[in-house]
Amino acid sequence: MTRTVYLNGDYLPETEAKVSIFDRGFLMADGVYEVTSVLGGKLIDFAGHCARLRRSLAELDMASPCTDAELLAIHRELVSVNDVTDGMVYLQVTRGNPGDRDFAYPPAETKPTLVLFTQNKPGLADSPSAKTGLKVISVPDVRWGRRDIKTVQLLYPSMAKMMAKAAHVDDAWFVEDGMVTEGTSNNAYIVKGNKIITRALSNDILHGITRAAVLRFAREAQMEVEERNFTIEEAQRADEAFITSASAFVTPVVEIDGAPVGAGTAGKVAARLREIYLEEMHKAAI
Ligand code: PDD
Repeated sequence: MTRTVYLNGDYLPETEAKVSIFDRGFLMADGVYEVTSVLGGKLIDFAGHCARLRRSLAELDMASPCTDAELLAIHRELVSVNDVTDGMVYLQVTRGNPGDRDFAYPPAETKPTLVLFTQNKPGLADSPSAKTGLKVISVPDVRWGRRDIKTVQLLYPSMAKMMAKAAHVDDAWFVEDGMVTEGTSNNAYIVKGNKIITRALSNDILHGITRAAVLRFAREAQMEVEERNFTIEEAQRADEAFITSASAFVTPVVEIDGAPVGAGTAGKVAARLREIYLEEMHKAAI
């Protein structure tokens, strides 16, 4: 089936949606994005993703292409016309097409480019990895210093994914100054006793929308949360480890650099958090 995608005001077959070769997203990775999951045909935490998009745009002095209400309408229309029950909506805003290549930002009146498309993932919430857990390797974090902005500069995360593939594991965790920052496309956590430990928010990591919700639910469920740095060695000695993201929700990590985490099987705390997260998010989906 040919997907219908959205480009700058138009709903088009994916084969007909074209962006200029001068687009700043293409030439400079001068763009930001969001991924919102869809469960049962409804959007999960749309408000959270909209708020982070606004923040990313503001941090880069990038014009907003439209209002939150318009974005919601576009998301819903794409989910509907593409018949998405479970999957994702990808949204990207770039600084647009100034008509030539120049390092300096183009004049403010240059129209941003807005692209959205859906990805159909039947059974997204029933991924086998929720039960089997993920194996990860650690790799140096050599990304830029503003990882809190969700930009489309994803070359190094892609390289890290390929390093993970070459090592026959599922993903990689980034390490900087001996401390875990986050996963290639997710936030990283360990569990010790009753305590959930994850790096505090800063410019070093993406402020995950799933992270915010999961930590809120954990605190509401009287679980202890400690926001601090941890090393790979501490993670290998932890009782459990897990990741969160809009597309993986809460997914256990069972092996780090070849060493089993805890019993080497998916942990109870991660399973409980996944259950609470999916239950609460289903209720609040729009
Ligand atoms: N990635 N850290 C990084 C580097 C990420 O790319 C992501 C999300 C997260 C988790 O953020 P959230 O909970 O808001 O999805 C953390 C998305 C899913 C992606 O690039 O596909």
